[in-house]
Order: sequence, then structure tokens, then C-alpha cells
Amino acid sequence: MNKCLNIVVGVSGGIAAYKACGLVRIFKELGHNVTVVPTPSALQFVGAATFEALSGNRVSTTVFEAVDEVQHVRVGQEADLVVIAPATADVMARLVAGRADDLLTATCLVATCPIVVAPAMHTEMWNNAATVANVQTLRSRGVTVLDPAYGRLTGKDSGPGRLPEPIQIANLALTAHSVGGFSRDMEGKKVLITAGGTQENLDPVRYLGNRSSGRQGFALAEIAAQRGAQVTIIAGSTDALETPCGATVVKVSSAREMAAAVDERAEGANVIIMAAAVADFRPETEAGAKLKKGSDDDSLHTLRLVENPDILAGTVERRKRGEIGECIIVGFAAETGSDTQSPLELAQAKLARKGCDLLMCNQVGKGKVFGQLDNAGWLLSPGAEPVEVPSGTKFEVASKILDEVVGKDILPS
Ligand SMILES: Cc1cc2nc3c(=O)[nH]c(=O)nc-3n(C[C@H](O)[C@H](O)[C@H](O)COP(=O)(O)O)c2cc1C
Repeated sequence: MNKCLNIVVGVSGGIAAYKACGLVRIFKELGHNVTVVPTPSALQFVGAATFEALSGNRVSTTVFEAVDEVQHVRVGQEADLVVIAPATADVMARLVAGRADDLLTATCLVATCPIVVAPAMHTEMWNNAATVANVQTLRSRGVTVLDPAYGRLTGKDSGPGRLPEPIQIANLALTAHSVGGFSRDMEGKKVLITAGGTQENLDPVRYLGNRSSGRQGFALAEIAAQRGAQVTIIAGSTDALETPCGATVVKVSSAREMAAAVDERAEGANVIIMAAAVADFRPETEAGAKLKKGSDDDSLHTLRLVENPDILAGTVERRKRGEIGECIIVGFAAETGSDTQSPLELAQAKLARKGCDLLMCNQVGKGKVFGQLDNAGWLLSPGAEPVEVPSGTKFEVASKILDEVVGKDILPS
């Protein structure tokens, strides 16, 4: 059971204020205590009654309500995490100026906990020099300002400025709380990530697949993007996951399609992370029509398999041959252990065999890892002691992996 946090959800006056309701719901369902602090403008979009009912706590906008409780100080002092979603251009300007003219800005001046700001506005406002400077100033002061999503805005136009989905904000904010906020230490780095399982066709309707949800790869993408990286995800089959803000998703199905997509995009990447569960084997033949019951064909009773290309080892080879530039290559080893060897021993052997720079080993099977929200394991590098990755959400594990990547002096600039 996670620790119950006191979370302040600040809501400012943008069209996306309705999404704050979903965010409050998620935090409540996770067992946290939520206090919603809207700006007066936010209440033009969503009523105080909605926020009070969803949070189970009183809602005030001004420092002059519940004065006997000294709200303007208490709410900030008691907070473990402040999340402002959506954050208008206006509220960010006021945060930069150190204003305290409503309860939300006063709370932010008092709070010493991590503050996460999720801006949402039209692209022109987001790109305006004043907003750009305000975002930079807030980041330089240790505030985690999330990049907005790209997509449909209030009117018919599209562009960067959309509020990410509540589940994305919740995951990022809780991770920022547990790691003490995100820095922009991957600014401009190109990161290629594979995620999810592959599907190897038996016939037009059936395939051999695996239980990978793609959650670990998408969590890596989400955190890398918020640390400033330009992220491309090569995604096999995954659960229904939101596209991480700013990331490009390339959909593939089989291991061979995934290998081709990686080959095409590996050149120029600074970091390549192979978090996908790639099928080692595929059926030797793919039937052109649906296989039918009651067939006399005896060969249908035996599944003949052939080996798929090894994407990780193949990419390391291409780097050795100088076909792709210098980059950090990270592999994953999902190990169940064997009668004679532990998952860690098997992963150490895999690291030596594949020649990658970092290998995340996790123990799978018996309901562990695949499709779960948590992960744990060890990070292995050639010639170094394994670094234990304590049990945490896949977002916390992603942060730890990216810390190791950034810490490598071979990360190309
Ligand atoms: C319909 C409507 C939608 C708005 N949407 C946004 C928005 O998405 N982002 C933004 O920065 N401002 C938006 N504004 C402008 C803000 O409401 C305005 O700047 C206000 O002063 C913000 O106050 P606050 O930051 O105290 O909440 C919108 C205004 C209107 C009338």
C-alpha cells in the first residue's frame, strides 16, 4: 500500500479545467487526501460543488475564507505534493512574480514540497516569449513544468498546448514526488524505445504473442520526454496506453517489422532502449487461409518454429561496424530463473552475450511484471556491480534507468 499523500490540486481558468475532475478522482482512488484549490477564474469553468464532492474537502479560492484556520499558510505547509492542472499562462506568470493574490498562488509560495505544473493553452500563448521565459524560470527554481501534449485545442486548431490526460499527469506527478522532481537533463537527446509484445502470425486470424503490456517502455518514453528528450517509440501490441507528450509512436506487429523499424531509425539516436518483449521464434510457415478443425493434415499437430532476428544484438553489431553512430544501448532481460541459475545470473550472461551498455533484469512469471504497474530488479553494466532497482511503479523504475543512462559518460552530446 502506497503512503497516503496530502495532494493539493490547483486548477486555473482554462478550458481544460474539466480534466482536473478526472485527476482528483485518480488521486482519491489511489488513497490520497486531495484538497482542490481553484483560482476564481477556474470556477467559471467547473463549479466548487464538483470539486468538493470529488475531493471530500472544502474548496476555497481566496485567503479570506476560513481565516481562523490560516488557510493560506496551512494548505501549503501540509502539502506533500502540489499539482496545478491545468496551469494557465496567467497563473505561471503570477508564480514567477511571486504573487500571492489568491489561495493557489499563496499556497505555492508556502509549499516546500515538489510542485508540478501542467500548462494548457493555445499554441500561440505557449510559444509566446513571455510564457517561454516563465517556464524556464519556474524550471530553474526546481518546479517541474510538464510539456503539454500535441493535439486538438479549444477550437478547430491543433498544436502543442493540450493538457495531457489525467492518468498521465497523475503518473508523472507521483513520480516527480518520489524522485524529487524532474530536471531537463535529456534536453535535445534523441531516444528510441521499443515497447510491447510482438505478434507472430499463424494464419490470417491467429498469432503467437506474449503478455507484455508495453507499460515499462511507455513509462520510459513519458519520463524521457518530460526530461527534454525527443522520443520515438516502436510499439508492438500494448494495453490501451496514452501517447507520451511529444513522443512519436510507430506501430509494428511482428519481430521482423520491429527489427526493420529500429534499423531505419537507429542512426542519429543518442539512446536506444529495447523494452519490448520480442518473440524469439515465429511459425515456420504462415497459412494463407484460416486453419480449420478436422483437417487430415498431420503437420497441423506440430508447431514448427524458426528463430527471429535478435534486434538487441543486431543493433550492437551495427554500432560496432560503424553503421550507426555512437549511442547508449539498453536491453531488458525478463528472466524466470532456471533449475540451476537465478534470474540475475541469467541476465549477467545475457549482458555479456549481447554486448549492450546497460541491461535491466527483471524477474517475470507468477504474475510478476507483465501487465503489472510495478517492477523491480537490477541494472547491469559491463565490469560494474549490479545496481539494485527497488520495487516501485514502472515510472519510478524508468526514472532510475534514465538516471543510469544520463550518468554514463559515454552519453553522446
Ligand atoms: C473560454 C476560455 C478559455 C480559456 N482557456 C485558457 C487556456 O486554456 N489557457 C490559458 O492560459 N488561458 C485560458 N483562458 C484565459 C484565462 O481564463 C485568463 O487568462 C484568466 O485570467 C486566467 O486566470 P487564472 O490564471 O487566475 O485562472 C481562457 C479564457 C476563456 C474565456
